[in-house]
Amino acid sequence: MNHKALYQPLYHHATPHGVLTAVALPPEPKPVPTSILDQLAEEEAAHAADLRGFRQVQFVGGRLALRHAAAQLGMRLPAAMPDDRGAPVMPPRIVGSVSHKHSIAVGMVARSNGRTLGVDIEEYEPARMGIAPKILRPEELATIEAMPEENRWLALLLRFSIKESIYKALDPYVRRYVGFHEAFVEPDLEGGARVELHLANGETGFEVDARYAWLEGRVLTSVRIGRTQPSSDS
Ligand SMILES: CC(C)(COP(=O)(O)OP(=O)(O)OC[C@H]1O[C@@H](n2cnc3c(N)ncnc32)[C@H](O)[C@@H]1OP(=O)(O)O)[C@@H](O)C(=O)NCCC(=O)NCCS
Repeated sequence: MNHKALYQPLYHHATPHGVLTAVALPPEPKPVPTSILDQLAEEEAAHAADLRGFRQVQFVGGRLALRHAAAQLGMRLPAAMPDDRGAPVMPPRIVGSVSHKHSIAVGMVARSNGRTLGVDIEEYEPARMGIAPKILRPEELATIEAMPEENRWLALLLRFSIKESIYKALDPYVRRYVGFHEAFVEPDLEGGARVELHLANGETGFEVDARYAWLEGRVLTSVRIGRTQPSSDS
């Protein structure tokens, strides 16, 4: 993956939920060069100039990834500034979501069709089985504990990542912190997952479609959420 220049697209990936673009990030939190900031919308570049360290690197990488993904769909994005809850604001009828890890940022963009989008990327290593009780509902924990030990971490990581994608796709509807125990996730063997929401505030009427893929030592997940029925929750 290091053959490509920093802040340039590593790959584009057509997914059932939209176009995903991955951008290479530097391993050190050096200030982002002006030549790179110039590739962002003016307002994004001004926002990035106020950020420091990895936060600046990640913000810039995420926005570049969104921009390149949109270009794959023939769209030129206006500035995708963070809203009051931290989500990138997209133009009407377009949805987009961002995730970053140390050496990579991803952005996924799609036409919305009334549905929201969340994306998440996670590294396989290091395994952190200790997070299981925080992330999993008791019935999910029981499923994972019944697995052969060597399968448990990836089974947990997949559920963790899908839940983070759920969080991002659900936020535009509920606009509140949603805990990990508010969703049940059962991945299948074909890159999908059954998701049940158990929302603490009793919000209902969501249709959740979750996908996952293994990409170069990472898990990539995305979630699309629509409304199943008119609701007074939103
Ligand atoms: C918000 C959260 C999901 C971000 O995930 P993360 O692994 O920390 O970081 P990622 O790199 O994957 O994602 C960061 C991006 O998420 C996006 N984001 C942040 N807040 C968001 C929100 N409320 N809604 C949608 N997207 C949001 C932003 O684009 C951000 O990148 P940017 O600031 O550079 O634009 C996470 O920090 C969090 O709070 N998780 C706990 C809650 C949870 O996941 N519950 C599960 C419910 S089932």
